[in-house]
Amino acid sequence: MAGLIPQAFLDDLLDRVDIVEVIDRRVKLRKAGKNYSARCPFHDEKTPSFSVNPDKQFYYCFGCGAGGNAIGFVMEYDNVDFPQAVETIASSQGLTVPREASRDGQPPQAQESAGKPLYALMEKVSLYYQQQLRQHPDKARAVAYLRGRGLTGEIAKQFQMGFAPAGWDNLKNALGESDELTQLLVKAGMLVVNEKGRMYDRFRERVMFPIRDRRGRVIAFGGRVLGDDKPKYLNSPETDIFHKGRELYGLYEARQNNRRLEKILVVEGYMDVIALAQHGITYAAATLGTSTSQTHLERIYRLCPEVVFCFDGDAAGRKAALRALEAALPCMEDGRQARFLFLPEGQDPDDAVRAQGREHLESLINNAMPLEDFLFEVAGEGLDISHLDGRARMSKQALPLIRLLPEGVFKQLMFKALAERTGLELSSLMALQAPAPVFPDDAPPAYDHAEPPPNADPYFESDYQEESQAPVRPPRGYSNLAQAAMALLLHRPDIARLVKPDVLPDEQGPDGALLRELLALLHKRPESSTAMLLGHWYGTSEGNLLNRLAGQERLIPTTGIEEEFLDTIHALTQDIPYRSKLAAQVDKLKSTNYADVSELEKQQIRELLQEKAQRDARRNKPG
Ligand code: CTP
Ligand code: MN
Repeated sequence: MAGLIPQAFLDDLLDRVDIVEVIDRRVKLRKAGKNYSARCPFHDEKTPSFSVNPDKQFYYCFGCGAGGNAIGFVMEYDNVDFPQAVETIASSQGLTVPREASRDGQPPQAQESAGKPLYALMEKVSLYYQQQLRQHPDKARAVAYLRGRGLTGEIAKQFQMGFAPAGWDNLKNALGESDELTQLLVKAGMLVVNEKGRMYDRFRERVMFPIRDRRGRVIAFGGRVLGDDKPKYLNSPETDIFHKGRELYGLYEARQNNRRLEKILVVEGYMDVIALAQHGITYAAATLGTSTSQTHLERIYRLCPEVVFCFDGDAAGRKAALRALEAALPCMEDGRQARFLFLPEGQDPDDAVRAQGREHLESLINNAMPLEDFLFEVAGEGLDISHLDGRARMSKQALPLIRLLPEGVFKQLMFKALAERTGLELSSLMALQAPAPVFPDDAPPAYDHAEPPPNADPYFESDYQEESQAPVRPPRGYSNLAQAAMALLLHRPDIARLVKPDVLPDEQGPDGALLRELLALLHKRPESSTAMLLGHWYGTSEGNLLNRLAGQERLIPTTGIEEEFLDTIHALTQDIPYRSKLAAQVDKLKSTNYADVSELEKQQIRELLQEKAQRDARRNKPG
């Protein structure tokens, strides 16, 4: 266990350092009003949407959603882990980072910057494997294998491919010159220790694919057998420097090969990436034996605005596509696109490009199905949408998916599209999105919530009255009251003192739960600044939400913050019938797997939709 950095030191560090200086040293900032701005370093853009707030000491990009405090920025920009980022900032201030003794009583210094020697070692390992591919007596077999798969020496070199020869201790003998180095090889996942304590090479008799991080450092390997032995592929285990759920094979090379990346093709395998590159499609990347995660996608979307997922046309491919859809939806900020390409059954991109060539595959890629079409296809699967019941069911399937989208124009368009496809009224679909979103002054609402729909029956009339008479509506730009309260707290952490830490009842959905945590933390550490709060949740999905809320400064009133906060909390603690229940339900749906949704939402959404459908049917009857 690494010795922890004391919280008090982190708070102190964030107090001393100026985020404007930290960022300006890396990305030139220009003053814009009381903030600073620049073109975002985390995604490709022409006009600056990256903004740094000197008062609250955080940054936020309206284009890609990147945001956080000074430590978070250094982590992202320098591509280092948390302790290293703290080191960097501390040393720029002439400070040494103290460590709390870890539980096993080890001297804390021993663990400092644990990553560094590992990176250096992995580089040596990679060179060793590449050398074996050129020089080892058995190299002919490996070379023949790669040639047989259509690869040239040039592409093998570009991807730094290597060869792990047969035998149990080639690598160990070549690089484990000392006990220390041997231990490090174990730590790097390159040597395995069995129960008897014997050490041996993990990768034997395989062609080797080094996995590189975004700075090009080798952090792990994949290895493939030369024939049909099992397991076909072997991967490095998770280590201090390798986290499967974050990395994409080939992303570094894709960046190297394209001055300007327009899209990334997400494929399944190492060989797909390399074969595609061999044929001139140099923008593919592969997840590493895991399904595509939101973390993967956020990484890609920081580099380019479009992702095309490529799947096998069989049942497994379809399943993988559903998981990818779920991971993609929360990332679909306006301006981003995701598309789905299904290859003929049994064909992977490697087969496809070799059989039909670049042009054919690129035309498939360019015509891949947009996310919106795929979503509706999934939602309407097996349903007869020529009947009302089928359409109601389709909306039932589509709504939880659409709700995964972040607030924005795209989400509104999707609600509209759902209304069009199902023939259900937009207002009735929107009624399920509770409390109703309110749009900032400068963005015209796509549909007006204040007006009851034409032909409104008593059910809807009472509904709309209730909404317009409600004492507090969620302030502009937030999708619920809990988020509105959190935004206020982020901008003025001191107002937490106005309420008791346990003021909120506990069944409030994830946003409510986060608000409770935020209040509890602020009561424990009342001196926390915006930057400290963002740091506390850094890198988590809660952190992403908080970054977004903190970034919406223009929506924060300049006066009356305390009253607004108290009103919001008051509204949250009252039982606002119907709408707040639905809000909690919707929050719950957001955090539920698509597969589980139908059970959970059965009562509420189904009932509401059916009721609505019946009313529609009655209304449409003559007389
Ligand atoms: N994979 C893995 N572990 C395995 C099998 C596969 O990590 N035991 C991952 C690898 O990243 C591999 C990808 O899944 O590249 C695709 O595997 P598979 O579908 O088996 O690939 P094939 O196309 O069959 O492999 P190849 O073309 O090399 O025969
Ligand atoms: Mn293959």
